[in-house]
Amino acid sequence: SRPMRILGIESSCDETGVALVDASGSGVPRLLGHALHSQIEMHQAYGGVVPELASRDHIRRVLPLTDAVLEQAGLPLSAVDAVAHTRGPGLAGALLVGSGVACALGMALGKPVIGVHHLEGHLLSPFLSADPPAFPFVALLVSGGHTQLMRVDGVGRYELLGETIDDAAGEAFDKSAKLLGLGYPGGPALSRLAQSGDGKAYAFPRPLLHSGDLDFSFAGLKTAVLTQVKRLAHAAPEGPATAHLADPLSAQQKADVAASVQAAIVDVLVKKALAALQATGLRRLVVAGGVGANALLRQELNAACQRRGVRVHYPELHLCTDNGAMIALAAGLRAQAGLLPPVVDAASSYRFD
Ligand code: KG4
Ligand code: ZN
Repeated sequence: SRPMRILGIESSCDETGVALVDASGSGVPRLLGHALHSQIEMHQAYGGVVPELASRDHIRRVLPLTDAVLEQAGLPLSAVDAVAHTRGPGLAGALLVGSGVACALGMALGKPVIGVHHLEGHLLSPFLSADPPAFPFVALLVSGGHTQLMRVDGVGRYELLGETIDDAAGEAFDKSAKLLGLGYPGGPALSRLAQSGDGKAYAFPRPLLHSGDLDFSFAGLKTAVLTQVKRLAHAAPEGPATAHLADPLSAQQKADVAASVQAAIVDVLVKKALAALQATGLRRLVVAGGVGANALLRQELNAACQRRGVRVHYPELHLCTDNGAMIALAAGLRAQAGLLPPVVDAASSYRFD
């Protein structure tokens, strides 16, 4: 019999997310409860995610969050019909926490365990919004670890159209932010600073913009930003010795660099997304992953797509970054599509990649 209430656990990086969906019937699975704990504050002092600290914090958070979700839903644990978890990609130790807990719950309840690909979670997350997309569509997947364009014809029917050959878009945001002395995570901080800057101040490269394919490259951008920051720092009047490379820059110079980097990244993402729509002849675009929260990206995509009569769908803002809802949802949609393998025993899905 098909699972109906699916618990989802996300623990691939620095957010512990748990959610419960109801996937009975054929409509989009309904969110019954959702809880999230972000480790951002804990990692901030180190300038990035410390894997061992991440794993340990997932261990601390995952069961209390599960309790909170069940309480929101007003249901006992025994009402759960299947347990989904992120099986990868991500930090191995962090993933093991989610899969270990999911398998333990599955064995205790005698219910199936479903391993979900993290990117499929992101990809399908707009189905939880008030304006869910219809198939087929082009998906622009932009996270801290991935930058991909896909053709999506249905649940489980994904065709990779292009992807980054080096850094991801989120990585470009994060590394540029680091060069400017902004904290972790860099994307939100950099886009905040960019609001008071001029995006045309510095002409940063738009790699592969005219490559004729749908691939991306962002590694050169960080070198260009480094060169620019160094140039501005050397030209600054001699001051006291400073801790960070970007310290001699004025607030306006930093804001201009931030705005120019953001403009370069967004420009490439928008042009390639439009090229993918053109190549496939599709008239629907889905944007997902952490960078999908970027206000300039949304603004530019909305404007460009409106001119072309293309509809754009985004996840709700709080579901752009990692969360448990997208994992429970993806498992629910797979179950509804009849795509779940027959379950032999709970331990059979104990794997990550
Ligand atoms: O999807 P996500 O939460 O985690 C991964 O699966 O990687 O994405 C995190 C990435 C980080 O690189 C972060 O800096 C970026 O998304 N990000 C943003 C914004 N919010 C998050 N980048 C630009 N503008 C934002 N507003
Ligand atoms: Zn993610």
